[in-house]
Amino acid sequence: MEIRVFDNLTSLNESFTAYLKEILADRERITVALSGGSTPKSLFDYWAKNHKNDIDWNRVFFFWGDERCVPPTDEQSNYNMTRGHLLNHVVIPERNVFRIKGENEPAAEAERYSTLLQMEVDKTDGIPSFDLIILGMGDDGHTASIFPQEIELWKSESFCVVATHPETGQKRVSLSGKVINHAQHVVFLVTGTTKAEKVKKIIGSRKEVKSIYPAAKVKPISGNLVWFLDEEAAKLLKA
Ligand code: 6PG
Repeated sequence: MEIRVFDNLTSLNESFTAYLKEILADRERITVALSGGSTPKSLFDYWAKNHKNDIDWNRVFFFWGDERCVPPTDEQSNYNMTRGHLLNHVVIPERNVFRIKGENEPAAEAERYSTLLQMEVDKTDGIPSFDLIILGMGDDGHTASIFPQEIELWKSESFCVVATHPETGQKRVSLSGKVINHAQHVVFLVTGTTKAEKVKKIIGSRKEVKSIYPAAKVKPISGNLVWFLDEEAAKLLKA
């Protein structure tokens, strides 16, 4: 595991972009699972502004690690956020974008997306193995849409699961732990002071908290896990 800490979002985004480019340099095409949340939004704005042309978007295939069960035009939709902040601004073929259909019945959509992943993503040991999964971490230690209250979903036999947001009751479709830990590269993009306590526990005492926080269960078999943090999220790490 590697930890990179930055004093501003632009440097974090720059470093992550260099990381992505290294993965892309080694392969003809890459499969990338995106997350929702505020840090990816800043990354997408940064790409739309600075990397329209020096990343070959034709070779990047986008999927999602999780989606809220709302229509693609809803302001809560992770796809909608990505469309508005990135996909409308770079030249990328529609066929490269595989959204989770939040408007569908959740269980049926989890199944449809699992089948799609088996067809579109290379497999390791029969399990879809993304070249890169981008994760966020919630203040409560959730990742993708696996929340502490439903941590058992992490070890589902399925590739995709239906989760329920603990406060709003909103349904979500999420990758399971099996798919997350089979990715070739997994990164966390985590910023802000509200994340500091969980960052400290999850990075500093992973084993002790891995039955409590889904984010602590992220341990890709490939060994390639990088945390991209800002100073605020990292502030308790050395304390
Ligand atoms: C989602 C997510 C979720 C997110 C974290 C962090 O759709 O809600 O994919 O797992 O990444 O909640 O979100 P922030 O970056 O906004 O704190």
